[in-house]
Amino acid sequence: MVKPSTEKSKTQVCRLRHYALLLACFLWTSFCLALWAVNGGIHIKQFQPPRPKPVPQNNSYSITSAFDMGIGDEEWERLQKAIDWSIPDQEITRLDQSTSPVHSTFSIVGLKESYKVGEKISVTITARDHNKNLKRYGGDFFKAKLFNTQLKASVYGEVVDHRNGTYSVPLLLPWEGQAQVFVRLEHSSEVVQILKKYRDSSFPRSHYNGYFEGSGPDKTRISEVVECNIKWGADGGWRKGDCCCEYKDIRTGTVWLCERPKKLSCDKLVHHSHGVLENPLNSFEKQLFAMKLTDVAISGDKKILNGLSNTVANGAVEKCRTGMTTPVPAGFYLKDVWKSFVCNTRQFSPAQMANCLKNKIVYLMGDSTTRQWFEYLERTVPGITRLDLHTHHELGPLMAVELKNNIIIHWRLHGVPLQSGKMPITDLPYINNYIDTIAGGRHAVIVFTYCAHLVFHPITFYVHEVAKIRQSVVSLLSRAPETTVIIKSGNTQGLKNIFQSDWNVLQLDTVMREMFKDIDGVIFLDVWQMTSCHYLRENIHPEPVIIANEVDMLLSYVCPA
Ligand SMILES: *[C@@H]1O[C@H](CO)[C@@H](O)[C@H](O)[C@H]1NC(C)=O
Repeated sequence: MVKPSTEKSKTQVCRLRHYALLLACFLWTSFCLALWAVNGGIHIKQFQPPRPKPVPQNNSYSITSAFDMGIGDEEWERLQKAIDWSIPDQEITRLDQSTSPVHSTFSIVGLKESYKVGEKISVTITARDHNKNLKRYGGDFFKAKLFNTQLKASVYGEVVDHRNGTYSVPLLLPWEGQAQVFVRLEHSSEVVQILKKYRDSSFPRSHYNGYFEGSGPDKTRISEVVECNIKWGADGGWRKGDCCCEYKDIRTGTVWLCERPKKLSCDKLVHHSHGVLENPLNSFEKQLFAMKLTDVAISGDKKILNGLSNTVANGAVEKCRTGMTTPVPAGFYLKDVWKSFVCNTRQFSPAQMANCLKNKIVYLMGDSTTRQWFEYLERTVPGITRLDLHTHHELGPLMAVELKNNIIIHWRLHGVPLQSGKMPITDLPYINNYIDTIAGGRHAVIVFTYCAHLVFHPITFYVHEVAKIRQSVVSLLSRAPETTVIIKSGNTQGLKNIFQSDWNVLQLDTVMREMFKDIDGVIFLDVWQMTSCHYLRENIHPEPVIIANEVDMLLSYVCPA
């Protein structure tokens, strides 16, 4: 081991200060002993023991304290560990130093003629840069799966980062028959570094519009459109000074900020919509994000593996209930049917769906992915009808009823920030506030997702919002313990740019899962794995066959067998 000179440590500290405090604290406390070799192993740095925290800088969202997020210091430390990702410790300046999907490869360790169903296949990924040099640090975002096209079978594998340019993936072979390994480089670690940098900076990647409407001085109806965004971070983030109308939610403490309209007063905010997305990437960063380097299959052992068994592959047999953890893999597809390892998931016929939902009020909340569930139920449950609530058919709120079995299904979007078409801001309650209006009970099924629209904003803001949702869920389960509460995770996005990256989704999913880990009575429904390993192209709105499997999971929890 080469000890760094004092000079080098100083440089390193300075460099790190450019990053979020978040990264700095984590690096110093968690990886004192980690050996990071960079630049082809020429400079080898050894990490120093924990140091005092650097003085916070006032230009970043990420200096937000655990207190500002409404959680304790210990929980924030736990969350940072959970989302820890080994990005390069310095910014690279040359494209050829980044991970190449062409030169990176995978191989099957101890390849055999045949495997038993239920056996693990061990895959090693070796990352190389564009000059075919081995990468010496980790952080690349790979996705891996086993699949069989004829059987419409696939299973997700979790990639373990050894932080030295190699990665392992244990892949379970759960079906009888052939299987092949598939690995793709979703983003190089250099791109993950950029994603993280912009996520944690106060740069608003996403803009929003606020529509003010009301009577002008001469009693005529006027309207004004201004820009809005979240107020977050010690410096207030987005706009400075007395620029704005502030909308502070009493219960969440979340502040929505709109530029002050010229003619109308602050209480005249009526509609909300998304504004433009702003790409912060410089030209070098854009090159790193180039399509040919993103979401590319890497080459490796294409050998057809053989799974042998006397029995038919099956999922779990235990009844679906609360308090179950999601293993990896959480299940697998066989003939396009998701067989869960979490619990016994059934396929529901339309009549069984109606029977399951008899006397239920289902509250679906969140974004268009829970609307897909609403639309699926609407299409499939016999006799169900959508009521005309005089709202936009995609922005909602929506409601469907089936009178024979007394089924009521609600769907609505979560509060701002949200990328939506123009709609009344009164129809965008924060999830926690909406939950606070529901009495709950054994007839109530509460489902929410909170992910896709939050990838535009700092993770500290996300933690703050989830903490508030958690409070409301805890209260709900306290006043009505028989309420079914289901959190739907985010699904893979299909888009691989600075705005929608699965790396961000995975991070938010991890935070959500961690923050609800100790809450009894809550079900975490993992659709990340279900959308990550399916043979259809990833889509921010998963394809109908996947939605059908997701809803079968949902119903398996509502009506366990
Ligand atoms: C990387 O780390 C893993 C796990 O510690 C080890 O097995 C492997 O040999 C290392 N590879 C290299 C190239 O250093």
